[in-house]
Amino acid sequence: MSFDLSVIPNKNIIVGITGGIAAYKSAILVRRLKDAGFNVRVVMTEGAQAFITPLTFQALSGNPVHTQLLDPEAEAGMGHIELARWADLVLIAPASCDTLAKFAAGLADDLLSTLYLATSAPVWVAPAMNQQMWAAKATQRNLATLVDDGVHVIMPVSGSQACGDVGLGRMPEPEELARQVTDYFHKAQRAIAEKFGLLASKHVVITAGPTREAIDPVRYISNHSTGKMGFALAAACYAAGAKVTLIAGPVSLDTPNGVRRINVSSAVQMLDTSMQLLDEGCDVFIATAAVADYRVAEVAEHKIKKSGDELDIALIKNPDIVATIAQQDKRPFMVGFAAETRNVEEYAAGKLVAKKLDMIACNDVSRADIGFASDENAMTVFFAEGYHLPKRDLEKASKQEIAQQLVEAIHDALHHDPAQDEAF
Ligand code: C5P
Repeated sequence: MSFDLSVIPNKNIIVGITGGIAAYKSAILVRRLKDAGFNVRVVMTEGAQAFITPLTFQALSGNPVHTQLLDPEAEAGMGHIELARWADLVLIAPASCDTLAKFAAGLADDLLSTLYLATSAPVWVAPAMNQQMWAAKATQRNLATLVDDGVHVIMPVSGSQACGDVGLGRMPEPEELARQVTDYFHKAQRAIAEKFGLLASKHVVITAGPTREAIDPVRYISNHSTGKMGFALAAACYAAGAKVTLIAGPVSLDTPNGVRRINVSSAVQMLDTSMQLLDEGCDVFIATAAVADYRVAEVAEHKIKKSGDELDIALIKNPDIVATIAQQDKRPFMVGFAAETRNVEEYAAGKLVAKKLDMIACNDVSRADIGFASDENAMTVFFAEGYHLPKRDLEKASKQEIAQQLVEAIHDALHHDPAQDEAF
């Protein structure tokens, strides 16, 4: 399971396709852009239609394909000006040398060249052509003009060409083009989040997953925690503009996009890493890890052999990570979790005080529909007394949605001024 924020909703891409054999790759490109969550509309030149049919792109993009500038029917649907305004990015792939020349000269004798002039969206071109045509002085001159005009050029790659030549002029693979487009929007999103996000300029450290306490070189004590809640929180904090470090016990989850991950195994390692990060400067510490309460007093150097009907292993208490961090002089805003099977709110409120937390999120793990391995959760959030904030019930929702609401709760507590609270 991945919490990668690679899906970008509500961004509009126009893929312009011009006449070249690389047009067959554009079918995959449109597919990949759709997979990434973009709305895609395709504009084809007459030359492009000699290589591949509009029907292919209509099926892949889920939208009618635009081919004509002066087609009254098409203009009634979405005219070229409307189309130009609709786009958040225009990507011409492949871009033939003829199209580059038209763009450079400012011609407007077909739909694509008109669109180029009419749009205020960023325009990217991925030239693809025979290596000799690429090297031609006129092509290079046109490219220089386009770069000067603010067009982003995705450079062709070298290799064997459809015409039999070997050299520079191949369009990069569609997956690579889709990755570059996705990256561009991620960076733009990140820049906004870093400035205006709920956790902008905060360093958030999150512990997640189980810990693993060795018994001997091949056995260990652990628990069923999957780490999903902590990973969802890491993604949500990053999306809210924070710098995020995730201290992960052994889990099989992909690292969320943009998040720094440090893998640990035992509770002692998790505490040591947490203390080091505190030295780096940490504003918010979120403890979602299901830390083993006990560890084996003396880990056997060699595999313990079967002998006798019983085996006694002495256990000693593990340090309480979140309580230890909360006692430090430079303590961050502390968030704990409580998973209980009964008297949920009472135990949670007790832990909030005992561990000196600022906020605690508790859930009832006796409910079969939420908790540990589930993709959904429901929680109640309590704030320490000094915040004068009422408890919050977070209704059953995906762990991503719960994570988002927890980010809002953290933000609200960080910015809450009790002095301005008339109720108190
Ligand atoms: O005491 P209990 O395990 O119920 O407390 C849960 C909270 O304390 C969680 O936030 C958990 O991550 C944290 N914790 C910890 N170190 C421990 C035990 C729990 O940080 N040794």
